[in-house]
Amino acid sequence: MNIFQLCLTLITFPFIVHVSGGGQWCYTSQHSTCGPDHWKDISHSCGGDHQSPINIEKMKAKRDSRLESITFQGYDQAPPGQWKLMNDGHSVLLSLSGDMYISEAGLPNKYKALQFHFHWGSPNKDGSEHTVDGKQFPLELHIVHMNTKFNSITEAKKDPQGLAVLGILITVGETENSNYSTLVAAMKNVSLEGDSTVVSTFPLEKLLPPQNQLSRYYRYQGSLTTPDCSEAVIWTVFEHPISISRAQHQILTDTAYFSAQGEVLLKMTDNFRPPQPLKSRKVLASKDATARSSSALQASVFTLTLLYLTAILLHD
Ligand SMILES: *[C@@H]1O[C@H](CO)[C@@H](O)[C@H](O)[C@H]1NC(C)=O
Ligand SMILES: *[C@@H]1O[C@H](CO)[C@@H](O)[C@H](O)[C@H]1NC(C)=O
Ligand SMILES: [Zn+2]
Repeated sequence: MNIFQLCLTLITFPFIVHVSGGGQWCYTSQHSTCGPDHWKDISHSCGGDHQSPINIEKMKAKRDSRLESITFQGYDQAPPGQWKLMNDGHSVLLSLSGDMYISEAGLPNKYKALQFHFHWGSPNKDGSEHTVDGKQFPLELHIVHMNTKFNSITEAKKDPQGLAVLGILITVGETENSNYSTLVAAMKNVSLEGDSTVVSTFPLEKLLPPQNQLSRYYRYQGSLTTPDCSEAVIWTVFEHPISISRAQHQILTDTAYFSAQGEVLLKMTDNFRPPQPLKSRKVLASKDATARSSSALQASVFTLTLLYLTAILLHD
């Protein structure tokens, strides 16, 4: 082995160790051999028929007028204590403590908020997981909830109604969003895999779209968007994106690394899974979301046309 080969080995060694462990997965931005196309090789579910994310086609979504406003419980106050934010090597994740729940709006039970995390591209590239009419957004926030009839994630992941995730699309605009400043400021403390920091709690509703937009969402049955891709998620993706400033976007997408201490530094970019085939699933639109005209409206248009034609015929 010459000196050049030795150097190359030393440089790549930590990375090879990291990706070659049993069941390791990654994003294509890290390595081409363990990205989303290969996930089904380590977890069978990733090749299933109810995978997430998806592309939401507004005009193909089926209106369900029973999908009214979600009931948020405990979302309006900062719970006691502190929260832990960490870099888990795939995303930046905040482990929630406190009693925050969602229910109603077509959910079969009450679901407890467990954690939230983000998916993104880079400072100049979009990176949401869900796309809407083919359009990708700069970032996406996922707030993960577990059905209160289960005591553990392991149990919940075995049930198609075990988890409920809220997806919030994030755009970049002119003004700073003070609701995200705690998180943005804490990013510098979680730049490496395994890093963690404590942050003050805040009312979780600060991360959601404005109150008057919460009744507009899309609903479908899907999966976790990372291995093991369990098909256990009732998805709710809000139609209205929230907005952060360019500077906030820059910090959120350009501070974290996939790498742990001592490894070759690789920026955490493009940590999103591309849209998966819808297969036989239907996307439902809530009562107030944009969708194709409801079947009730189509029926009445049809009836009116028929009456009109009958009237013309009778007249002659
Ligand atoms: C970052 O970590 C330092 C050291 O633990 C702490 O003093 C500081 O408050 C943290 N900053 C933020 C914004 O979380
Ligand atoms: C911040 O959160 C509050 C409470 O949910 C909301 O009323 C406000 O519109 C949010 N601000 C922005 C800029 O989104
Ligand atoms: Zn996610």
